[in-house]
Amino acid sequence: MTTDLELELDPADLPAVAEFLAAQQADPTRHIGYLNSEPGSIMEQLGGLEPLGTGGLVVARIAGRIVGVLAAEWDTDPPRCWWHGPFVAADADAVEVADALLHRAVRLLPSEVTQQEICGDDRHDWLAGFAARHGFVAEEASAVLDRNLGADLPERSVATVPVEDLVAEQRDAVAALHDELFRNTHTPGDRLVSGGTDRLLVVVEDGAPRGYVAVERQEDGAGYLDFLGVAPEAQGRGLGSALVAAACHEMRDGLGCRATHLTVRVSNTPARKVYANNGFTQQRVLVPFRKGYSIP
Ligand SMILES: CC(C)(COP(=O)(O)OP(=O)(O)OC[C@H]1O[C@@H](n2cnc3c(N)ncnc32)[C@H](O)[C@@H]1OP(=O)(O)O)[C@@H](O)C(=O)NCCC(=O)NCCS
Repeated sequence: MTTDLELELDPADLPAVAEFLAAQQADPTRHIGYLNSEPGSIMEQLGGLEPLGTGGLVVARIAGRIVGVLAAEWDTDPPRCWWHGPFVAADADAVEVADALLHRAVRLLPSEVTQQEICGDDRHDWLAGFAARHGFVAEEASAVLDRNLGADLPERSVATVPVEDLVAEQRDAVAALHDELFRNTHTPGDRLVSGGTDRLLVVVEDGAPRGYVAVERQEDGAGYLDFLGVAPEAQGRGLGSALVAAACHEMRDGLGCRATHLTVRVSNTPARKVYANNGFTQQRVLVPFRKGYSIP
């Protein structure tokens, strides 16, 4: 039986691809990080893949049936590709199909894109073997936490720690704080403060920002809390917790989100405490596999 690889996806086939991916995402032994779970939002996400949209997809078929999918999304600053997948049907040969998908999909990447990441649920059956075979190295896992933003969101006392929207005068200082706290991240400080997220909330004391949190509304309507940071000298006084509480209210009341999620390194005890104190619970653990770079 030969595996056919398809690059130019017929738009009429997109719903079938999205259904295939949604079924895979629902299974922890197949789940891949950062791809949505519902067919509708997966279709939107695939259409918005940077820079090629659905042109970044490689679909594998056997006798016309979809048996595998791999999607590429990349940036040139940093020159990094995030793979969505590979996904392989349970009754297909995971080694053969996944290897064929990657072999074809890397040819989509411009030569300057030298860094690659794949990321999957820690219960995934064969991803670690696939990653090792292709020279990817496993790095520290992150927990995916979520919480709903319904009526049970605790009222927040604004008087305890005032959290405000970022104003222009604080931009440079917040960007510098972000670069100090999150080195080697995909969104550097200058980009974060100039529209890199839907909302940036800050705590200002004595005229200087001591902490900030970034939130956005994703294509599927869920809130995403992307960055939370408190200046080292201001940590341990409840600022982080106040920022997360304010972020939850902003996502519910300002951005209209009914639920929110985030990822946090499994070893980041202070951050995990802050999120647990704010009602977040663990949904899964994701392991990143990186090639051409490392995030210590
Ligand atoms: C995570 C962070 C924002 C927390 O900010 P903060 O203002 O110190 O948070 P809070 O004071 O509200 O709460 C800190 C909690 O962690 C606990 N904590 C602090 N240091 C700890 C440690 N080394 N081990 C265990 N718990 C610790 C505190 O006791 C407190 O928990 P409690 O309220 O149950 O007592 C801050 O540590 C930070 O900026 N870290 C670097 C950036 C980062 O990792 N951000 C999160 C990315 S997901």
